[in-house]
Amino acid sequence: LLELRELQTNTKEYLGKEIEINGWVKKIRSQKNFGFIELNDGTFFTGIQVVFDEALENFEEISKLTISTSVKVTGTVVESLGKGQDYEIKATKISVYQKADSDYPLQNKRHTFEFLRTIAHLRPRTNAFFATFRVRSILSYAIHKFFQEKNFVYVQTPIITGSDAEGAGEMFRLTTLDINNVPKTENGSIDFKQDFFGKEANLTVSGQLNVETFATAFKNTYTFGPTFRAEKSNTPKHAAEFWMMEPEIAFADLDVNMDIIEEMIKYIVNYVRENAKEEMEFFNKFVDKDLFNRLDTLVNNKFDRITYTEAIEILKNSKQKFEYEVEWGIDLQTEHERYLAEKHFKKPVFVTDYPKDIKAFYMKLNEDGKTVRAVDLLAPGIGEIVGGSQREDDYEVLLGKIQEMGLKEEDYWWYLDLRKYGSVPHSGFGLGFDRMLMYITGMTNIRDVIPFPRTTKNLEF
Ligand code: 4AD
Ligand code: MG
Repeated sequence: LLELRELQTNTKEYLGKEIEINGWVKKIRSQKNFGFIELNDGTFFTGIQVVFDEALENFEEISKLTISTSVKVTGTVVESLGKGQDYEIKATKISVYQKADSDYPLQNKRHTFEFLRTIAHLRPRTNAFFATFRVRSILSYAIHKFFQEKNFVYVQTPIITGSDAEGAGEMFRLTTLDINNVPKTENGSIDFKQDFFGKEANLTVSGQLNVETFATAFKNTYTFGPTFRAEKSNTPKHAAEFWMMEPEIAFADLDVNMDIIEEMIKYIVNYVRENAKEEMEFFNKFVDKDLFNRLDTLVNNKFDRITYTEAIEILKNSKQKFEYEVEWGIDLQTEHERYLAEKHFKKPVFVTDYPKDIKAFYMKLNEDGKTVRAVDLLAPGIGEIVGGSQREDDYEVLLGKIQEMGLKEEDYWWYLDLRKYGSVPHSGFGLGFDRMLMYITGMTNIRDVIPFPRTTKNLEF
């Protein structure tokens, strides 16, 4: 039994030979005494044409097949006389696994991405989603490959956590509440603080604090997994469940951090273009005609590095009208980030040294006492795709930050310990995997790059 990928990539070897192949009917056209099926078994982006005629014993049945019917085809690989393909299969036998119901929603017409979200269980069968999810798989592998080749240790950090890694209070609470045995506070109300086996627990917002502990053992580490945010942002780039890749490196300052981010992004873009050629051609042709230009610019240029203070100056001096007023101290909004990356630099740009009040507690305080060693990578079309920093490595300063921000000191004792037992300068970052996938494919909504998106409105499937 042959797979389509093998047939499509080594076609010449099969010319004139009899083969057997499984697949689904993607298109069918039939005339009085012959017909054509476009067949795909899912292993390759482009399907193969199958020609059949009255010589088939079940010709009547086959000529009336519905789209998405599953079949096994036996036949000979021949040169095609028709336009659109060089080779085709001349069928000698076609047997049907199951004839698809005729109300199959993906008939051969264009559907909007909005509509396809309502049939998330079927959408991977369409070209755009087939390409997206195969690239998603390859991108994930490319990330592992990049870090494994550099001998980074992969740490599987927990999904269920007791502390808030970002200190931003955007966590989903976990519960094992037994309706017959609800924990009560002294005044008789439900004790929500004790709802996970007697403790308070949350879904992780980031594996960073855990992976930092491993960086003090292995030097070079990374975690890559799902993370959860209970923020209610209903935007094209926020999901309640998304994947993040977070390396953590000991003996590294912010410049080393930026070097790795840039090297990694260029590596994974090249890897995907090399290993998903057909899919990438599809995106460049049908989803975003500027895609290859944009990716070429990314790969062939050094990313600029500016400070937050410089970014504010650029925004203030621009002629662009922003909805959200620009002044030193504001958290950059998507409109500001996109202006910098798209209009000003026209490629990804690093922005460093943000005001301490708008960034997380663990970032290293600069000598000015006002800014921290933070870095965000801003990308055209999306805005922030990476957020990272050099970490605060001084015990007293970190403790002061935890107290100042009103976090519970007892939740972070183990994290503080790292600053007691051989503290070193160390840095890391988080790559928003789904946003990176949007950037590489040109897909513009995060709901369309996640197999089963979880956002404020999506929980079905
Ligand atoms: O900037 P963030 O919040 O940083 C962290 O979580 C750090 N602990 C990372 C680190 O230094 N180890 O998130 C990192 C990235 C963002 O730049 C963005 O690309 C993505 O994660 N991200 C989201 N992606 C989709 N939906 C959301 N709600 C996201 N929130 C953040
Ligand atoms: Mg961020």
